[in-house]
Amino acid sequence: MSDIHSFIRRLPKAELHLHLEGTVTPATLVELSQRHDATPITLPEAEALYHFTDFTGFLLAFKAVSERLITPGDYELAAWRMSQHLAEQGVVHAEVYISVGVIYHWRNPDPDCFDPIFAGLERARLRAENELGLTLYWILDAVRHFPLDEAEKVFRKAAELHASHPSVIGIGLGGDERRCGSEPFRDMYARAREAGLRLTNHAGETTGPEAIWEALSIGSERLGHALSTIRDPKLIEHLKAQNICLELNPTSNVRTGVCPSFREHPLRQYFDAGLLVTINSDDPAFFGSDLAGEYALAHSEQGFSRAELRQLAANSIRASFLPDVTKRSWLSQITEAH
Ligand code: ADE
Ligand code: ZN
Repeated sequence: MSDIHSFIRRLPKAELHLHLEGTVTPATLVELSQRHDATPITLPEAEALYHFTDFTGFLLAFKAVSERLITPGDYELAAWRMSQHLAEQGVVHAEVYISVGVIYHWRNPDPDCFDPIFAGLERARLRAENELGLTLYWILDAVRHFPLDEAEKVFRKAAELHASHPSVIGIGLGGDERRCGSEPFRDMYARAREAGLRLTNHAGETTGPEAIWEALSIGSERLGHALSTIRDPKLIEHLKAQNICLELNPTSNVRTGVCPSFREHPLRQYFDAGLLVTINSDDPAFFGSDLAGEYALAHSEQGFSRAELRQLAANSIRASFLPDVTKRSWLSQITEAH
């Protein structure tokens, strides 16, 4: 019998909730700072940035990293390093959030300023596919608590790029749910769907189940975090009946202070209730975990057996936006992994 860590590594897995900006390690941040800052930050300063204690502190750290991702080359570097790390963990496919809302808000309001950055991301994606056998899709993420017209620009850019680049698969909404729910985005989600984009949404991370109902009511197909689902039995029944995917991020929730410990995360209860749960790493460089780490913690903290870990991996492929034929191929390889 091989040990659990090598079993986890060999399991073909998909990451469905991963922010590119959140994969930038302190060492890479120093490198980016050396490219851009008159007085570059030191490694201890970069490490200190990642030591937040609550959700607001986390959002500030996320902003500090985003501010140093500037050129197409910066994005290409970040996406390539992210891909290498994913491949090392046995991740075969990732659907990666790009915080385009942050770019428009903090750096440049011109919607087309994203085009050269996207070209850099695509270079990294193609290299990852060729050299690592890892496939990537992009999900363009707006920030819900920024002005609505900025989200509108993000989603329009997503629709425009999707028409010529199938790698742009969908849209998402991150940011602070306590400051803005989903209702204001109803029409934008409808238009994104008409453009052929898939609809994801952060919901119920720092807010109650009502925010999850609201996210569902505007057509969200996959829910990020959905931590507060556990407080609403009717919602659990509904998610099960509709086979809605939950993109859970247990370590992220512990580190941003919205869940007391991995052991107390409702992952196990959702899984046992038969929901389509996936585990994900969200912002792994910030939280000191990665996808393989989340699988290992599911095993050690919540008693997930090998068969159950296999089920989590299968869920990640099923809930991905990959074509059915590709899903079938990965699912049969998951069955065979030992
Ligand atoms: N952006 C990056 N990570 C996020 C999270 N966990 N919640 C909301 N917005 C985010
Ligand atoms: Zn997230």
